[in-house]
Amino acid sequence: MISPAFLSVVLLACLSAVQAQNVPVSVPLTAPSAAATVKQSLMSFSIEQDRWTDWVGTTTPNTFFINSLNNLKQRSGVPPAFRIGADSEDRTNFNAKVDYCENVFPGFSTTTPYPEASNNIVGDKYYQVASHLPSGTRIIWGVNFGSNNITAAYLAAKSLQKAFSSSTMKNAGVSLDFIEIGNEADFYGGNGDRTGIAWNIAEYTKEWTTFATNISAAANMNSLGIKFMGGGFANSDHKTFAPQGLFSSGIQNSAAGKLITSFSQHHYSGSFCSGSGGLLQDLMTKATIRSNVSIFASDVVATRAKGLDYILGETNSYSCHGAPGVSNVAGAALWALDYMLYSSQIGVSQVYFHQGVGYKYSFIQPATLTRSILDGSTLSTPLAPHLQPTYYAALVATEAIGTSGSTKAVELSINDPRIAGYAFFENGTLKRAVLINSEAFFTTTTTPRTSKVINLSFSGSGSKPKTMTVKRLAIKHADDDHGLTWGGQTFETNNALPSGAVSVQTVNASAGVTISATEVVLLSFQ
Ligand SMILES: *[C@@H]1O[C@H](CO)[C@@H](O)[C@H](O)[C@H]1NC(C)=O
Ligand SMILES: *[C@@H]1O[C@H](CO)[C@@H](O)[C@H](O)[C@H]1NC(C)=O
Ligand SMILES: *[C@@H]1O[C@H](CO)[C@@H](O)[C@H](O)[C@H]1NC(C)=O
Ligand SMILES: *[C@@H]1O[C@H](CO)[C@@H](O)[C@H](O)[C@H]1NC(C)=O
Ligand SMILES: *[C@@H]1O[C@H](CO)[C@@H](O)[C@H](O)[C@H]1NC(C)=O
Ligand SMILES: *[C@@H]1O[C@H](CO)[C@@H](O)[C@H](O)[C@H]1NC(C)=O
Repeated sequence: MISPAFLSVVLLACLSAVQAQNVPVSVPLTAPSAAATVKQSLMSFSIEQDRWTDWVGTTTPNTFFINSLNNLKQRSGVPPAFRIGADSEDRTNFNAKVDYCENVFPGFSTTTPYPEASNNIVGDKYYQVASHLPSGTRIIWGVNFGSNNITAAYLAAKSLQKAFSSSTMKNAGVSLDFIEIGNEADFYGGNGDRTGIAWNIAEYTKEWTTFATNISAAANMNSLGIKFMGGGFANSDHKTFAPQGLFSSGIQNSAAGKLITSFSQHHYSGSFCSGSGGLLQDLMTKATIRSNVSIFASDVVATRAKGLDYILGETNSYSCHGAPGVSNVAGAALWALDYMLYSSQIGVSQVYFHQGVGYKYSFIQPATLTRSILDGSTLSTPLAPHLQPTYYAALVATEAIGTSGSTKAVELSINDPRIAGYAFFENGTLKRAVLINSEAFFTTTTTPRTSKVINLSFSGSGSKPKTMTVKRLAIKHADDDHGLTWGGQTFETNNALPSGAVSVQTVNASAGVTISATEVVLLSFQ
């Protein structure tokens, strides 16, 4: 038998054999002019419309879900914003006799264990239960355009108007900011939603305007202050179904079109129905995150030039509801964090991570699952509501942004392909920094875990911080699907509330910080 003492000697020898690389990082003491304003609700959610009531609850709120939102609200001062829509948005109809909603689901498969409903019939209460959400929640709600049935959209708009002008909703502090007409309408020409017609941006704008004119009256949008979300497209050609093509189609010429005050783009990093370690490392990699986001920089410029806001209204790692062993594991949390913070740097104001019950890439599983999210096999014991690793990205981001309402962030220039970093300023003064080491350390990695020493220096005028607290997102392996801790606390509890004491280290601010492969640190300067 090998003694534990011997093993620890071997382990120490191995660890010291790995030379921690020194990475210089200069942090500005005051916000550079290029720093981006970061919304408190940068971290937002898109929810698949079919199972909306599974998320929010019916007669009573879904406490697990609401707790998971309040954790984020405590950190950034506002709850995540919601977009309720996606594929099932274009399969929704209204029937006043339906209590909440009635779904028809197609059969499931190994690649899609939890498919979207093929039919989603909703009644008034379906919209009213949004009042269960935390106070301050702002919503984008999608109505059906794909079916080309204006009555369906009209009835939904009427019901939305009723729900959001009710005293229950007003007292709850939940508001409808936008109505979105149709999901990924750029695909209607190919997916069977529009046949026998040349489906282009001119035809889209013509049909959209007819719907929007009707909906704006039905929902009394002018007097309630509700706007239209523009776009909701999924391609990235920058000219047709894109901000550039949409504006030049004359969509803003009508009274209804003038209600478009924001543009929504959808994006996934790719489409993979089976995962691998290589795929997980690609997802996490600094360069691929930047190339995925920066393709939209010119669209952001074109949108902001019109005075409109720009959001990633539906996004996540890989389509197929996520790649198994990639989207549902800890490495994806590093991706989500870097992806949303980097998006802020190109002028994206909110990133709506798409969620569905049983989806591999969901941050939150709000309902009991009876089938495996990975392959659809029957689970021997049902899986209670739980948080997935990517939820920790939301915790880190909201905590880094904070409650100030004046937070700006700048990406730190770091000459290392695996280390990304951002500095956060309140009122122009340096407050915090996030550092991400995106080198994947797997359960199967046979070499010792690497780490890097971040040698911090401070630049510009202002008084240098004396101390900083270091809070770590601790991950055992990039491919772990549970067991993460944030500052020593786990959020993987039966009620989504944290368990355990917060643990941070206070160190000399000029001491620098060591960051392991597959780790995130949040530095708060004093
Ligand atoms: C909107 O469409 C519905 C259903 O076709 C119709 O009943 C209603 O009169 C229309 N409203 C307006 C303002 O066009
Ligand atoms: C359009 O929606 C209305 C309202 O639910 C429904 O009565 C009607 O049957 C639908 N039309 C078609 C063609 O599906
Ligand atoms: C997006 O990221 C994936 C890796 O997740 C990469 O394969 C793909 O090439 C990237 N796309 C762009 C446009 O950079
Ligand atoms: C931010 O700066 C303004 C003007 O200098 C000051 O009035 C305000 O109190 C500051 N707020 C914080 C949170 O420091
Ligand atoms: C950290 O960077 C400073 C310059 O900013 C340099 O003088 C110092 O030697 C570096 N420390 C280490 C341990 O490399
Ligand atoms: C922090 O470290 C620097 C450089 O080693 C040293 O000059 C300074 O006195 C230290 N500050 C504190 C509060 O220990």
